[in-house]
Amino acid sequence: MNPVNFTRNEHAAAVLAAYYETPPMAYVHSFGCQQNVNDGEKILGILMDLGCGQAQRLEDADIIVFNTCAVREHAEQRVFGNVGALKKLKEQNPRLMIAVCGCMPQQAHVVEKFKHSYPFVDIVFGTGAIDRLPEMICQRIEGHKRVMRQPEERTDIVEHMPIRRDSAFRAWLPIMYGCDNFCSYCIVPYVRGRERSRRSADILAEFRQLVADGYKDITLLGQNVNSYGKGLGEELDFADLLAMLAAVPGDYRIRFMTSHPKDATKKLIDTMASSDHIAKHLHLPVQSGSDTILQAMNRRYTAARYLELIDYAKQTIPEMTYSSDIIVGFPGETEEDFRRTEELVRRVEYMQLFTFIYSKRAGTPAARLPDPTPHAEKAARIARLVAIQDAVVEKLTAALVGTEVQVLVEGPGRTPGVFTGRLDNNMVVEVPGPAPVGQFAFARIESAKGAVLKGRLV
Ligand code: 5AD
Ligand code: SF4
Repeated sequence: MNPVNFTRNEHAAAVLAAYYETPPMAYVHSFGCQQNVNDGEKILGILMDLGCGQAQRLEDADIIVFNTCAVREHAEQRVFGNVGALKKLKEQNPRLMIAVCGCMPQQAHVVEKFKHSYPFVDIVFGTGAIDRLPEMICQRIEGHKRVMRQPEERTDIVEHMPIRRDSAFRAWLPIMYGCDNFCSYCIVPYVRGRERSRRSADILAEFRQLVADGYKDITLLGQNVNSYGKGLGEELDFADLLAMLAAVPGDYRIRFMTSHPKDATKKLIDTMASSDHIAKHLHLPVQSGSDTILQAMNRRYTAARYLELIDYAKQTIPEMTYSSDIIVGFPGETEEDFRRTEELVRRVEYMQLFTFIYSKRAGTPAARLPDPTPHAEKAARIARLVAIQDAVVEKLTAALVGTEVQVLVEGPGRTPGVFTGRLDNNMVVEVPGPAPVGQFAFARIESAKGAVLKGRLV
């Protein structure tokens, strides 16, 4: 399928200019994953393309956009709380335009809730309608009616949306959208729809531009990057795409996320080994160490197969570091199941571990499973896992002391005079400033306290 090209809506720009006396200021806040962050950058890009300025604070904004996440209940509750708090601002400024978008409004019941319980919200739309924002703004202003867009599934890809990136040296680059995996706990396939890949030529063109613009840290994004290319009609898998991008000359590193273990291949590891442009870090979410739970999660791999791939990666790229997501307290998870997760975490030695207590998502198969384990027990399991992980990190970071590592300098840290730099593995090192922001530098690690590394530039 051919992508659609974004076109500028001149009428919307004129409508906005006429409605606000001075150029309206836009404030976009994204919750959740990097895909959402990238969508938020496009939303701000579209608004600035219509003549808006960027508000630094919520209170200074004429247009507020909350780009939401639906992956866990906690994330949704936060959004409802944050949106609720906007009521006061709206009372002070009737021209304030409030939009809520992203994954939450991809669920019909959420649209209903905003429609009936949040009358001060002007526009609600889902992930597939970002390019329609100018139209929706016109409808709101000219039609004098709230715009509550029902969830819809977008099957095409929109290219060339304006974008206002958050950073001048770190960029997100989506290579595919949606997810076809239907892990039994996960809402993503329902809200973000079926998997569709961008054409490799479009990705390459954006990538080259990023490198030419001086971006140093480029992360390829997809819910499951390893199934890149499915249905695209190009003879190219994810490893091939990665190799093609890494062949672009320049001073940068590439990362990617997320890899699904069922589709991650030895070829991918070999490709990572073959280029200095590719960060030696693998985010490979395991979710659980128990085969029973993995099966109930519909993950389609076993712990043994997962470990085999990790072992291969460790042999092939000794300096590689790993990170993972784990869900604790999936319905029916027993103490025995959980011990297998603990065992796996000790064995792999992740540099970073993102742990979540299972959150029931309406409409997913797991939501129908009996879930007898008390919340307190789940919280205790997570605490056990965090303690194991802390010990692992302590060991891994202690081993870095005395070594020289490449960092991308990010900017001044919280302590005056101190700058922070990010390693390949996403760990942060604090160094005495000044340091060249947005540039690569080498640092000698002098101390490690848990995950906090301190060093100095060499
Ligand atoms: N409950 C808890 N965690 C979840 N995740 C996805 N869905 C749920 C859920 N229903 C976690 C997974 C995934 C990460 C992005 O969020 O670990 O890898
Ligand atoms: Fe959700 Fe699984 Fe798809 Fe990841 S791979 S987005 S966890 S369904």
